[in-house]
Amino acid sequence: MNKIYITTPIFYVNDLPHIGHAYTTIICDTLAKYFKNKKFNVRFTTGTDEHGLKVEKAANLKNKDPKSFVDVVSKNFRELGIKLEISNSDFIRTTEERHKKSAISFWNKLQENDQIYLSDYKGWYSIKDESFYQEKELSKVNNNFFTVDGEKVEWIQEESYFFKLSNFQQKLLDYYDENPNFIKPKSRMNEVKSFVKSGLKDLSISRTSFNWGIKIPKKSNHIMYVWIDALTNYLTSLGYPNFNKDELEYWQECIHIIGKDILKFHGIYWPAMLMAADLPLPKTIFAHGWWTNEGKKISKSLGNTIDPIEMIEKYGLDQFRYFLLREVPLGNDGDFSERAFISRINSDLSNNLGNLIQRVTKFIQKNYDNRVPVKVSLDLNNYSFLEEGYNLVTKIDVLMKNLEISKSLEEIFLYINNLNKFMDTSEPWKTFKVNPEKAGESLSILIESFRIIGIILQPFIPVASSKILDILNIDKLDRNFDCINVDNSIKKNHKLKEPLAIFPRYES
Ligand code: MSP
Repeated sequence: MNKIYITTPIFYVNDLPHIGHAYTTIICDTLAKYFKNKKFNVRFTTGTDEHGLKVEKAANLKNKDPKSFVDVVSKNFRELGIKLEISNSDFIRTTEERHKKSAISFWNKLQENDQIYLSDYKGWYSIKDESFYQEKELSKVNNNFFTVDGEKVEWIQEESYFFKLSNFQQKLLDYYDENPNFIKPKSRMNEVKSFVKSGLKDLSISRTSFNWGIKIPKKSNHIMYVWIDALTNYLTSLGYPNFNKDELEYWQECIHIIGKDILKFHGIYWPAMLMAADLPLPKTIFAHGWWTNEGKKISKSLGNTIDPIEMIEKYGLDQFRYFLLREVPLGNDGDFSERAFISRINSDLSNNLGNLIQRVTKFIQKNYDNRVPVKVSLDLNNYSFLEEGYNLVTKIDVLMKNLEISKSLEEIFLYINNLNKFMDTSEPWKTFKVNPEKAGESLSILIESFRIIGIILQPFIPVASSKILDILNIDKLDRNFDCINVDNSIKKNHKLKEPLAIFPRYES
Protein backbone atom coordinates (compact mmCIF):
# COMPACT_ATOMS: atom_id res chain seq x y z
CA MET A 1 0.00 0.00 0.00
CA ASN A 2 1.19 3.52 -0.78
CA LYS A 3 2.68 5.52 2.06
CA ILE A 4 2.82 9.22 2.74
CA TYR A 5 4.26 11.24 5.62
CA ILE A 6 2.92 14.77 6.06
CA THR A 7 4.39 17.29 8.50
CA THR A 8 3.50 20.76 9.79
CA PRO A 9 6.28 22.94 11.13
CA ILE A 10 6.41 22.62 14.90
CA PHE A 11 5.17 25.81 16.50
CA TYR A 12 7.09 28.11 18.81
CA VAL A 13 5.44 28.17 22.18
CA ASN A 14 6.18 31.83 22.85
CA ASP A 15 2.64 32.85 22.03
CA LEU A 16 -0.98 31.87 21.40
CA PRO A 17 -1.93 30.03 18.21
CA HIS A 18 -2.98 32.30 15.33
CA ILE A 19 -4.26 32.03 11.78
CA GLY A 20 -0.79 31.16 10.41
CA HIS A 21 -0.54 28.07 12.61
CA ALA A 22 -4.09 27.08 11.73
CA TYR A 23 -3.42 27.55 8.01
CA THR A 24 -0.43 25.19 7.86
CA THR A 25 -2.30 22.67 9.97
CA ILE A 26 -5.47 22.75 7.84
CA ILE A 27 -3.46 22.27 4.64
CA CYS A 28 -1.74 19.22 6.11
CA ASP A 29 -4.97 17.81 7.48
CA THR A 30 -6.70 18.18 4.11
CA LEU A 31 -3.87 16.31 2.41
CA ALA A 32 -3.87 13.64 5.12
CA LYS A 33 -7.64 13.13 4.82
CA TYR A 34 -7.41 13.08 1.03
CA PHE A 35 -4.69 10.45 0.93
CA LYS A 36 -6.36 8.38 3.65
CA ASN A 37 -9.50 8.29 1.57
CA LYS A 38 -7.37 7.19 -1.39
CA LYS A 39 -6.28 4.25 0.82
CA PHE A 40 -2.74 5.47 1.42
CA ASN A 41 -1.11 4.67 4.73
CA VAL A 42 -0.76 8.16 6.15
CA ARG A 43 1.42 9.49 8.94
CA PHE A 44 0.72 13.09 9.83
CA THR A 45 2.67 14.88 12.51
CA THR A 46 2.58 18.27 14.18
CA GLY A 47 3.81 19.61 17.51
CA THR A 48 5.63 22.32 19.39
CA ASP A 49 9.13 23.79 19.21
CA GLU A 50 9.89 24.47 22.84
CA HIS A 51 13.59 25.33 23.22
CA GLY A 52 15.73 28.35 22.40
CA LEU A 53 16.27 31.91 23.42
CA LYS A 54 12.94 33.18 22.11
CA VAL A 55 10.94 30.76 24.26
CA GLU A 56 13.25 31.29 27.27
CA LYS A 57 12.67 35.04 27.01
CA ALA A 58 8.90 34.58 26.76
CA ALA A 59 8.98 32.47 29.93
CA ASN A 60 11.09 35.09 31.73
CA LEU A 61 8.60 37.78 30.77
CA LYS A 62 5.87 35.78 32.52
CA ASN A 63 8.15 35.08 35.52
CA LYS A 64 7.91 31.36 34.87
CA ASP A 65 10.61 28.75 34.59
CA PRO A 66 10.80 27.63 30.94
CA LYS A 67 9.56 24.08 31.55
CA SER A 68 6.35 25.01 33.34
CA PHE A 69 5.82 27.80 30.80
CA VAL A 70 6.10 25.48 27.77
CA ASP A 71 3.91 22.84 29.42
CA VAL A 72 1.08 25.36 29.51
CA VAL A 73 1.59 26.96 26.09
CA SER A 74 2.08 23.65 24.27
CA LYS A 75 -1.40 22.63 25.47
CA ASN A 76 -2.88 25.59 23.55
CA PHE A 77 -1.49 24.15 20.33
CA ARG A 78 -2.75 20.67 21.12
CA GLU A 79 -6.11 22.29 21.82
CA LEU A 80 -6.01 24.03 18.42
CA GLY A 81 -5.56 20.63 16.75
CA ILE A 82 -8.58 19.31 18.65
CA LYS A 83 -10.72 22.31 17.66
CA LEU A 84 -9.62 21.89 14.04
CA GLU A 85 -10.51 18.17 14.34
CA ILE A 86 -7.27 17.24 12.62
CA SER A 87 -6.30 13.66 11.91
CA ASN A 88 -2.68 13.80 13.09
CA SER A 89 -1.03 10.55 14.10
CA ASP A 90 1.50 12.25 16.39
CA PHE A 91 2.08 15.43 18.34
CA ILE A 92 5.75 16.03 19.10
CA ARG A 93 7.09 18.22 21.87
CA THR A 94 10.80 18.92 21.62
CA THR A 95 11.09 18.68 25.41
CA GLU A 96 10.09 15.00 25.30
CA GLU A 97 12.75 12.38 26.07
CA ARG A 98 12.18 10.51 22.78
CA HIS A 99 12.95 13.73 20.91
CA LYS A 100 16.07 14.56 22.91
CA LYS A 101 17.36 11.06 22.19
CA SER A 102 16.67 11.51 18.48
CA ALA A 103 18.27 15.00 18.27
CA ILE A 104 21.38 13.81 20.14
CA SER A 105 21.69 10.75 17.90
CA PHE A 106 21.49 13.02 14.88
CA TRP A 107 24.18 15.27 16.34
CA ASN A 108 26.40 12.28 17.13
CA LYS A 109 26.01 11.01 13.59
CA LEU A 110 27.12 14.40 12.20
CA GLN A 111 30.10 14.31 14.55
CA GLU A 112 30.96 10.73 13.65
CA ASN A 113 30.88 11.74 9.96
CA ASP A 114 33.29 14.61 10.70
CA GLN A 115 30.75 17.29 9.78
CA ILE A 116 31.12 19.35 12.96
CA TYR A 117 34.00 21.35 14.46
CA LEU A 118 34.51 23.64 17.45
CA SER A 119 35.44 27.30 16.94
CA ASP A 120 34.23 30.81 17.86
CA TYR A 121 31.17 32.53 16.44
CA LYS A 122 31.09 36.26 15.89
CA GLY A 123 28.07 37.70 14.13
CA TRP A 124 24.48 38.85 14.00
CA TYR A 125 21.54 36.93 15.40
CA SER A 126 17.79 37.50 15.29
CA ILE A 127 15.95 36.10 18.28
CA LYS A 128 12.62 36.47 16.50
CA ASP A 129 13.62 34.01 13.73
CA GLU A 130 16.30 32.22 15.78
CA SER A 131 18.54 32.85 12.81
CA PHE A 132 22.08 34.02 12.01
CA TYR A 133 22.57 36.79 9.46
CA GLN A 134 25.46 38.02 7.38
CA GLU A 135 25.92 41.78 7.41
CA LYS A 136 25.11 41.98 3.68
CA GLU A 137 21.59 40.66 4.44
CA LEU A 138 20.86 43.47 6.94
CA SER A 139 20.17 47.17 6.78
CA LYS A 140 21.77 49.67 9.13
CA VAL A 141 19.81 52.40 10.89
CA ASN A 142 21.46 54.57 13.59
CA ASN A 143 24.14 51.98 14.33
CA ASN A 144 21.56 49.21 14.70
CA PHE A 145 21.11 46.42 12.17
CA PHE A 146 17.74 45.10 10.98
CA THR A 147 16.49 42.14 8.94
CA VAL A 148 14.29 42.71 5.87
CA ASP A 149 11.29 42.18 8.16
CA GLY A 150 12.44 45.04 10.36
CA GLU A 151 13.64 42.84 13.23
CA LYS A 152 16.58 44.20 15.17
CA VAL A 153 19.48 41.75 15.33
CA GLU A 154 21.97 41.38 18.17
CA TRP A 155 25.71 40.82 18.04
CA ILE A 156 26.88 37.57 19.54
CA GLN A 157 30.37 36.34 20.15
CA GLU A 158 30.94 32.99 21.82
CA GLU A 159 32.48 29.55 21.49
CA SER A 160 30.35 27.49 19.15
CA TYR A 161 30.22 24.25 17.22
CA PHE A 162 29.92 24.65 13.47
CA PHE A 163 28.34 22.47 10.82
CA LYS A 164 30.37 22.30 7.58
CA LEU A 165 27.56 23.74 5.50
CA SER A 166 29.96 25.31 2.99
CA ASN A 167 30.93 21.81 1.79
CA PHE A 168 27.38 21.29 0.56
CA GLN A 169 26.98 24.18 -1.83
CA GLN A 170 27.56 22.20 -5.02
CA LYS A 171 25.90 19.03 -3.69
CA LEU A 172 22.74 20.99 -2.95
CA LEU A 173 22.74 22.71 -6.33
CA ASP A 174 23.16 19.35 -8.06
CA TYR A 175 20.35 17.89 -5.97
CA TYR A 176 17.98 20.73 -6.85
CA ASP A 177 18.77 20.26 -10.54
CA GLU A 178 18.21 16.52 -10.39
CA ASN A 179 14.99 16.91 -8.34
CA PRO A 180 13.16 19.92 -9.75
CA ASN A 181 10.08 19.17 -7.61
CA PHE A 182 11.99 19.00 -4.34
CA ILE A 183 11.06 22.57 -3.42
CA LYS A 184 7.69 23.97 -4.48
CA PRO A 185 6.37 26.26 -5.84
CA LYS A 186 8.98 26.77 -8.55
CA SER A 187 9.55 30.41 -7.58
CA ARG A 188 10.66 29.25 -4.10
CA MET A 189 13.03 26.72 -5.65
CA ASN A 190 14.58 29.56 -7.64
CA GLU A 191 14.91 31.67 -4.51
CA VAL A 192 16.69 28.85 -2.69
CA LYS A 193 19.00 28.19 -5.62
CA SER A 194 20.09 31.80 -5.84
CA PHE A 195 20.69 31.94 -2.08
CA VAL A 196 22.89 28.84 -2.29
CA LYS A 197 24.71 30.15 -5.37
CA SER A 198 25.52 33.36 -3.52
CA GLY A 199 27.72 31.27 -1.19
CA LEU A 200 27.20 29.19 1.94
CA LYS A 201 29.16 29.70 5.13
CA ASP A 202 29.56 27.10 7.85
CA LEU A 203 26.67 27.26 10.27
CA SER A 204 26.97 27.91 13.99
CA ILE A 205 25.02 25.09 15.65
CA SER A 206 25.50 25.55 19.39
CA ARG A 207 25.20 28.34 21.92
CA THR A 208 26.85 28.85 25.28
CA SER A 209 25.21 32.03 26.58
CA PHE A 210 21.93 30.50 27.77
CA ASN A 211 20.63 27.15 28.96
CA TRP A 212 17.21 26.39 27.59
CA GLY A 213 17.85 23.62 25.09
CA ILE A 214 19.29 20.18 24.48
CA LYS A 215 22.74 19.82 25.99
CA ILE A 216 25.54 18.68 23.69
CA PRO A 217 26.95 15.28 24.71
CA LYS A 218 30.23 15.63 26.69
CA LYS A 219 30.15 19.42 26.33
CA SER A 220 27.25 20.41 28.52
CA ASN A 221 27.92 24.16 28.47
CA HIS A 222 26.84 24.01 24.80
CA ILE A 223 23.15 24.01 23.88
CA MET A 224 22.10 22.64 20.51
CA TYR A 225 21.06 25.36 18.02
CA VAL A 226 17.28 25.38 18.22
CA TRP A 227 16.81 24.84 14.49
CA ILE A 228 18.75 21.54 14.49
CA ASP A 229 16.79 20.48 17.53
CA ALA A 230 13.52 21.49 15.81
CA LEU A 231 14.18 20.01 12.37
CA THR A 232 15.00 16.58 13.80
CA ASN A 233 11.43 16.39 15.14
CA TYR A 234 10.49 15.12 11.69
CA LEU A 235 12.75 12.12 12.26
CA THR A 236 11.74 11.63 15.90
CA SER A 237 8.14 10.98 14.97
CA LEU A 238 9.22 8.04 12.82
CA GLY A 239 11.31 6.54 15.60
CA TYR A 240 14.80 7.79 14.66
CA PRO A 241 17.53 6.64 15.37
CA ASN A 242 15.88 3.23 15.06
CA PHE A 243 14.26 3.52 11.66
CA ASN A 244 12.95 0.19 10.43
CA LYS A 245 12.22 -0.48 6.76
CA ASP A 246 8.64 0.70 7.12
CA GLU A 247 9.64 3.99 8.76
CA LEU A 248 12.35 4.62 6.22
CA GLU A 249 9.75 4.20 3.48
CA TYR A 250 7.55 6.79 5.16
CA TRP A 251 10.52 9.13 5.41
CA GLN A 252 11.20 8.87 1.69
CA GLU A 253 7.58 9.84 1.00
CA CYS A 254 7.68 12.87 3.26
CA ILE A 255 6.05 16.21 2.43
CA HIS A 256 7.05 19.15 4.61
CA ILE A 257 4.44 21.90 4.47
CA ILE A 258 5.98 25.14 5.72
CA GLY A 259 5.53 28.91 5.53
CA LYS A 260 7.73 30.86 3.12
CA ASP A 261 9.60 32.47 6.05
CA ILE A 262 11.23 29.21 7.08
CA LEU A 263 12.33 28.07 3.65
CA LYS A 264 16.07 28.65 4.24
CA PHE A 265 16.05 26.21 7.16
CA HIS A 266 14.06 23.53 5.37
CA GLY A 267 15.36 23.97 1.83
CA ILE A 268 19.07 24.50 2.60
CA TYR A 269 20.19 23.63 6.13
CA TRP A 270 18.00 20.56 6.54
CA PRO A 271 18.86 18.77 3.26
CA ALA A 272 22.57 19.53 3.79
CA MET A 273 22.44 18.08 7.31
CA LEU A 274 20.53 15.01 6.14
CA MET A 275 23.14 14.45 3.42
CA ALA A 276 25.84 14.87 6.05
CA ALA A 277 24.14 12.26 8.25
CA ASP A 278 23.79 9.80 5.34
CA LEU A 279 20.00 10.02 5.41
CA PRO A 280 17.69 10.29 2.39
CA LEU A 281 15.97 13.61 1.82
CA PRO A 282 12.23 14.20 2.10
CA LYS A 283 10.33 14.10 -1.16
CA THR A 284 8.86 17.60 -1.23
CA ILE A 285 9.10 20.86 0.66
CA PHE A 286 6.16 23.10 -0.08
CA ALA A 287 6.29 26.72 1.06
CA HIS A 288 2.93 28.42 1.40
CA GLY A 289 2.35 32.16 1.52
CA TRP A 290 1.41 34.43 4.39
CA TRP A 291 -1.92 35.88 5.43
CA THR A 292 -2.28 39.55 6.10
CA ASN A 293 -5.21 41.11 7.96
CA GLU A 294 -6.97 43.77 5.84
CA GLY A 295 -3.72 44.36 4.01
CA LYS A 296 -1.57 44.68 7.15
CA LYS A 297 1.09 42.30 8.37
CA ILE A 298 -0.29 40.26 11.28
CA SER A 299 1.61 40.87 14.49
CA LYS A 300 1.05 40.81 18.20
CA SER A 301 2.38 44.35 18.55
CA LEU A 302 -0.21 45.65 16.04
CA GLY A 303 -2.89 43.73 17.96
CA ASN A 304 -4.35 42.38 14.71
CA THR A 305 -3.83 38.64 15.13
CA ILE A 306 -6.76 36.45 14.07
CA ASP A 307 -7.76 33.84 16.61
CA PRO A 308 -8.65 30.60 14.78
CA ILE A 309 -10.67 29.27 17.70
CA GLU A 310 -12.79 32.41 17.78
CA MET A 311 -13.39 32.11 14.03
CA ILE A 312 -14.45 28.47 14.35
CA GLU A 313 -16.79 29.25 17.22
CA LYS A 314 -18.33 32.18 15.37
CA TYR A 315 -18.65 30.72 11.86
CA GLY A 316 -18.01 26.97 12.03
CA LEU A 317 -15.04 24.76 11.32
CA ASP A 318 -15.82 23.97 7.69
CA GLN A 319 -16.42 27.61 6.87
CA PHE A 320 -12.99 28.51 8.26
CA ARG A 321 -11.29 25.62 6.49
CA TYR A 322 -13.06 26.37 3.23
CA PHE A 323 -12.10 30.03 3.18
CA LEU A 324 -8.42 29.38 3.89
CA LEU A 325 -8.16 26.55 1.39
CA ARG A 326 -10.17 28.16 -1.41
CA GLU A 327 -9.34 31.84 -1.22
CA VAL A 328 -5.76 31.67 -2.48
CA PRO A 329 -3.77 29.15 -4.50
CA LEU A 330 -1.38 27.33 -2.20
CA GLY A 331 1.92 29.19 -2.34
CA ASN A 332 0.43 32.69 -2.78
CA ASP A 333 -0.08 35.26 -0.04
CA GLY A 334 -3.64 35.92 1.03
CA ASP A 335 -5.49 38.77 2.63
CA PHE A 336 -7.98 38.06 5.36
CA SER A 337 -10.99 40.24 6.06
CA GLU A 338 -14.25 39.31 7.69
CA ARG A 339 -16.04 40.87 4.70
CA ALA A 340 -14.26 38.64 2.18
CA PHE A 341 -14.74 35.68 4.50
CA ILE A 342 -18.51 36.13 4.82
CA SER A 343 -18.94 36.84 1.14
CA ARG A 344 -17.05 33.67 0.17
CA ILE A 345 -18.83 31.32 2.56
CA ASN A 346 -22.27 32.78 1.82
CA SER A 347 -21.91 32.57 -1.93
CA ASP A 348 -20.17 29.19 -2.25
CA LEU A 349 -21.35 27.24 0.76
CA SER A 350 -24.79 28.63 1.65
CA ASN A 351 -26.13 29.75 -1.71
CA ASN A 352 -24.50 27.43 -4.17
CA LEU A 353 -24.20 24.20 -2.27
CA GLY A 354 -26.43 24.29 0.83
CA ASN A 355 -29.50 25.79 -0.86
CA LEU A 356 -29.39 23.41 -3.76
CA ILE A 357 -29.27 20.34 -1.54
CA GLN A 358 -32.01 21.64 0.69
CA ARG A 359 -34.36 22.52 -2.15
CA VAL A 360 -33.97 19.14 -3.81
CA THR A 361 -34.21 17.01 -0.67
CA LYS A 362 -37.23 18.93 0.62
CA PHE A 363 -39.00 18.47 -2.70
CA ILE A 364 -38.33 14.75 -2.65
CA GLN A 365 -39.52 14.49 0.92
CA LYS A 366 -42.76 16.23 0.06
CA ASN A 367 -43.52 14.58 -3.25
CA TYR A 368 -41.75 11.25 -3.37
CA ASP A 369 -42.14 9.95 0.17
CA ASN A 370 -38.46 10.88 0.67
CA ARG A 371 -37.34 8.14 -1.71
CA VAL A 372 -35.03 8.40 -4.73
CA PRO A 373 -37.35 8.29 -7.77
CA VAL A 374 -35.13 6.37 -10.25
CA LYS A 375 -31.75 4.68 -10.38
CA VAL A 376 -29.50 6.69 -12.66
CA SER A 377 -28.14 4.94 -15.70
CA LEU A 378 -26.19 5.78 -18.82
CA ASP A 379 -29.29 6.09 -20.97
CA LEU A 380 -30.82 8.99 -19.03
CA ASN A 381 -31.15 12.19 -21.03
CA ASN A 382 -29.01 14.26 -18.73
CA TYR A 383 -26.46 11.63 -17.81
CA SER A 384 -23.65 13.97 -18.94
CA PHE A 385 -24.00 15.87 -15.62
CA LEU A 386 -23.15 12.71 -13.77
CA GLU A 387 -20.35 11.85 -16.11
CA GLU A 388 -18.85 15.23 -15.32
CA GLY A 389 -19.16 14.37 -11.62
CA TYR A 390 -17.63 10.91 -11.92
CA ASN A 391 -14.77 12.38 -13.94
CA LEU A 392 -14.05 14.89 -11.18
CA VAL A 393 -12.28 12.17 -9.18
CA THR A 394 -9.54 11.81 -11.76
CA LYS A 395 -9.23 15.56 -12.23
CA ILE A 396 -8.98 16.18 -8.49
CA ASP A 397 -6.44 13.41 -8.09
CA VAL A 398 -4.04 15.05 -10.52
CA LEU A 399 -4.51 18.41 -8.78
CA MET A 400 -4.15 17.08 -5.23
CA LYS A 401 -0.99 15.13 -6.05
CA ASN A 402 0.33 18.47 -7.22
CA LEU A 403 -0.91 20.10 -3.97
CA GLU A 404 -3.30 22.35 -5.90
CA ILE A 405 -5.92 22.48 -3.17
CA SER A 406 -7.61 25.74 -4.13
CA LYS A 407 -7.85 24.66 -7.77
CA SER A 408 -9.43 21.36 -6.67
CA LEU A 409 -12.13 23.25 -4.79
CA GLU A 410 -12.59 25.55 -7.75
CA GLU A 411 -13.26 22.53 -9.99
CA ILE A 412 -15.71 21.00 -7.51
CA PHE A 413 -17.62 24.26 -7.17
CA LEU A 414 -17.72 24.73 -10.94
CA TYR A 415 -19.51 21.42 -11.03
CA ILE A 416 -21.89 22.61 -8.31
CA ASN A 417 -22.57 25.73 -10.41
CA ASN A 418 -23.48 23.51 -13.32
CA LEU A 419 -25.85 21.55 -11.12
CA ASN A 420 -27.56 24.77 -10.09
CA LYS A 421 -27.96 25.65 -13.76
CA PHE A 422 -29.34 22.20 -14.45
CA MET A 423 -31.80 22.61 -11.60
CA ASP A 424 -32.91 25.97 -12.98
CA THR A 425 -33.36 24.76 -16.54
CA SER A 426 -34.97 21.40 -15.77
CA GLU A 427 -37.31 22.98 -13.19
CA PRO A 428 -38.45 19.68 -11.65
CA TRP A 429 -41.03 21.43 -9.44
CA LYS A 430 -42.86 22.57 -12.63
CA THR A 431 -42.24 19.43 -14.69
CA PHE A 432 -43.53 17.34 -11.78
CA LYS A 433 -47.08 18.57 -12.42
CA VAL A 434 -47.13 17.44 -16.04
CA ASN A 435 -44.51 14.74 -16.25
CA PRO A 436 -43.55 13.30 -12.82
CA GLU A 437 -41.35 10.67 -14.39
CA LYS A 438 -39.18 13.27 -16.11
CA ALA A 439 -39.00 15.33 -12.92
CA GLY A 440 -38.01 12.18 -11.04
CA GLU A 441 -35.11 11.62 -13.42
CA SER A 442 -33.78 15.16 -12.95
CA LEU A 443 -34.11 14.88 -9.18
CA SER A 444 -32.34 11.54 -9.12
CA ILE A 445 -29.49 12.98 -11.18
CA LEU A 446 -29.20 15.75 -8.62
CA ILE A 447 -29.26 13.35 -5.65
CA GLU A 448 -26.58 11.17 -7.23
CA SER A 449 -24.51 14.32 -7.85
CA PHE A 450 -24.82 15.22 -4.17
CA ARG A 451 -23.45 11.79 -3.33
CA ILE A 452 -20.46 12.49 -5.57
CA ILE A 453 -19.95 15.94 -4.04
CA GLY A 454 -20.42 14.68 -0.49
CA ILE A 455 -17.72 12.06 -0.96
CA ILE A 456 -15.32 14.30 -2.82
CA LEU A 457 -15.57 17.19 -0.34
CA GLN A 458 -14.74 15.06 2.72
CA PRO A 459 -11.05 16.04 2.97
CA PHE A 460 -11.86 19.75 2.59
CA ILE A 461 -15.03 20.29 4.61
CA PRO A 462 -15.42 17.11 6.63
CA VAL A 463 -18.28 18.18 8.90
CA ALA A 464 -20.61 19.36 6.14
CA SER A 465 -19.80 16.49 3.82
CA SER A 466 -20.62 13.94 6.46
CA LYS A 467 -23.92 15.82 7.02
CA ILE A 468 -24.64 15.60 3.28
CA LEU A 469 -23.85 11.90 3.17
CA ASP A 470 -25.95 11.33 6.31
CA ILE A 471 -28.94 13.10 4.74
CA LEU A 472 -28.48 10.90 1.67
CA ASN A 473 -28.33 7.91 4.01
CA ILE A 474 -25.03 6.64 2.59
CA ASP A 475 -23.40 3.89 4.60
CA LYS A 476 -20.09 4.86 6.26
CA LEU A 477 -18.35 2.07 4.34
CA ASP A 478 -19.50 3.52 1.02
CA ARG A 479 -17.88 6.92 1.37
CA ASN A 480 -14.57 6.27 -0.38
CA PHE A 481 -13.49 7.93 -3.58
CA ASP A 482 -13.60 4.59 -5.35
CA CYS A 483 -17.37 4.50 -4.74
CA ILE A 484 -17.71 7.43 -7.14
CA ASN A 485 -18.95 5.61 -10.23
CA VAL A 486 -22.23 4.68 -11.82
CA ASP A 487 -22.09 1.09 -10.53
CA ASN A 488 -22.37 2.42 -6.99
CA SER A 489 -25.09 4.95 -7.82
CA ILE A 490 -28.03 5.36 -5.46
CA LYS A 491 -30.76 2.78 -6.00
CA LYS A 492 -34.38 3.52 -6.91
CA ASN A 493 -36.52 3.90 -3.79
CA HIS A 494 -33.46 4.43 -1.58
CA LYS A 495 -34.85 6.18 1.49
CA LEU A 496 -33.30 9.54 2.35
CA LYS A 497 -33.06 11.00 5.86
CA GLU A 498 -34.76 14.20 7.00
CA PRO A 499 -33.55 17.24 5.00
CA LEU A 500 -31.43 19.61 7.09
CA ALA A 501 -29.96 23.07 6.64
CA ILE A 502 -26.23 22.53 6.08
CA PHE A 503 -24.79 26.05 6.02
CA PRO A 504 -26.36 29.07 7.69
CA ARG A 505 -26.17 32.41 5.90
CA TYR A 506 -24.26 35.21 7.61
CA GLU A 507 -25.03 38.91 7.52
CA SER A 508 -22.14 40.91 6.11
N1 MSP B 1 9.32 26.80 15.20
C1 MSP B 1 9.49 27.22 13.85
C2 MSP B 1 9.31 26.05 12.90
C3 MSP B 1 10.20 24.88 13.16
S1 MSP B 1 9.86 23.56 12.07
C4 MSP B 1 11.10 22.50 12.26
C5 MSP B 1 8.47 28.31 13.51
N2 MSP B 1 7.42 28.40 14.29
S2 MSP B 1 6.28 29.51 14.18
O1 MSP B 1 5.34 29.19 15.22
O2 MSP B 1 6.85 30.81 14.24
O3 MSP B 1 5.62 29.42 12.77
C6 MSP B 1 4.98 28.27 12.37
C7 MSP B 1 4.37 28.39 11.00
O4 MSP B 1 3.36 29.39 10.98
C8 MSP B 1 5.38 28.77 9.92
O5 MSP B 1 5.23 27.90 8.81
C9 MSP B 1 4.97 30.16 9.52
O6 MSP B 1 5.20 30.40 8.17
C10 MSP B 1 3.48 30.11 9.78
N3 MSP B 1 2.94 31.45 9.89
C11 MSP B 1 3.14 32.37 10.88
N4 MSP B 1 2.46 33.50 10.56
C12 MSP B 1 1.82 33.35 9.38
C13 MSP B 1 0.89 34.10 8.63
N5 MSP B 1 0.54 35.33 8.96
N6 MSP B 1 0.34 33.51 7.53
C14 MSP B 1 0.61 32.21 7.19
N7 MSP B 1 1.46 31.47 7.88
C15 MSP B 1 2.24 32.07 8.84
O7 MSP B 1 8.69 29.03 12.55
